[in-house]
Amino acid sequence: MKPIYVGLCGVGTVGGGTATVLKRNAEEIARRAGRPIVVKMAANRDLDRAREVCGSDVTIVDDAFAVVNNPDIDIVVELIGGTTIAKDIVLKAIENGKHVVTANKKLIAEYGNEIFARAQEKGVIVAFEAAVAGGIPIIKALREGLTANKIEWVAGIINGTSNFILTEMRDKGLAFADVLAEAQRLGYAEADPTFDIEGHDAAHKLTIMSAIAFGIPVQFDKAYLEGISKLDATDIKYAMELGYRIKLLGVTRRRENGIELRVAPTLIPQKRLIANVDGVMNAVLVKGDAVGATLYYGPGAGAEPTASSVIADLVDITRLHTADPEHRVPHLAFQPTQLADLPI
Ligand code: HSE
Repeated sequence: MKPIYVGLCGVGTVGGGTATVLKRNAEEIARRAGRPIVVKMAANRDLDRAREVCGSDVTIVDDAFAVVNNPDIDIVVELIGGTTIAKDIVLKAIENGKHVVTANKKLIAEYGNEIFARAQEKGVIVAFEAAVAGGIPIIKALREGLTANKIEWVAGIINGTSNFILTEMRDKGLAFADVLAEAQRLGYAEADPTFDIEGHDAAHKLTIMSAIAFGIPVQFDKAYLEGISKLDATDIKYAMELGYRIKLLGVTRRRENGIELRVAPTLIPQKRLIANVDGVMNAVLVKGDAVGATLYYGPGAGAEPTASSVIADLVDITRLHTADPEHRVPHLAFQPTQLADLPI
């Protein structure tokens, strides 16, 4: 069966993870999607890195527009980041009738309304599971798993870099700047790490969750945000002595007069589950009127965790929107072949 051809725009940490996992788990992914999903073309400034990561079967270019303008590409994966070229790439892909998968929370939080309107006009999908909480499938949980609920609030630790910094400062007594440098080295931090430590990145993600949870447009400019850069070792020490942990928490909730959107360092009693979410891990609590409180936990950044979400979107789009009707795999299909492979 003809594969779905993917064009990768950006082969950095997440792009590398995506190419690697698509190759490593090709068989499983093809079975779940109903057809193979193959990277056919990749654009990256560092051509050698892209060649090394993607392999010789993939056409490597330095111009992302060559990817979105290639008629053979079915789905464009935007992993460039930022809102300049990335926005042009996404809009051009939509104009060309291609589905888009992106991990770009800034783009969705700041320009999502325009992007979704264009996508709707063209009948294509813009999917962004990887934009929020890395490998945790929180977008699907909010949109699908909890769809019966009136959501009351969402609260989460949704910036891995800040959480990693707070954890290392607390456990190892390390200085803020040293831990930040380590987070950058590990590929967790944004290109501009002030986005992580001043709460912008968390507010982008919170804005996206809020839009889905409450059915409102994305409104990043309405978010209140405060980061962790003013915290020092003494704050962390006193919080511990009083039985609390400090976490950078994003909260969005229904209020009588509107929706609250707030990111700020927050004291959490240390016996709460969410107070024990450490390192680069993220956690999101969602309270629905029918289900009650639910908790989602997992790695919030990193190559393969984020690739896991990118590929989930690729599979969703493939099985629901691109396959010929006869090859479409229903969303909750029972696939006996998968069970047959399991050891008994
Ligand atoms: N810089 C982000 C973080 C990466 O630290 O959570 C994942 O969005």
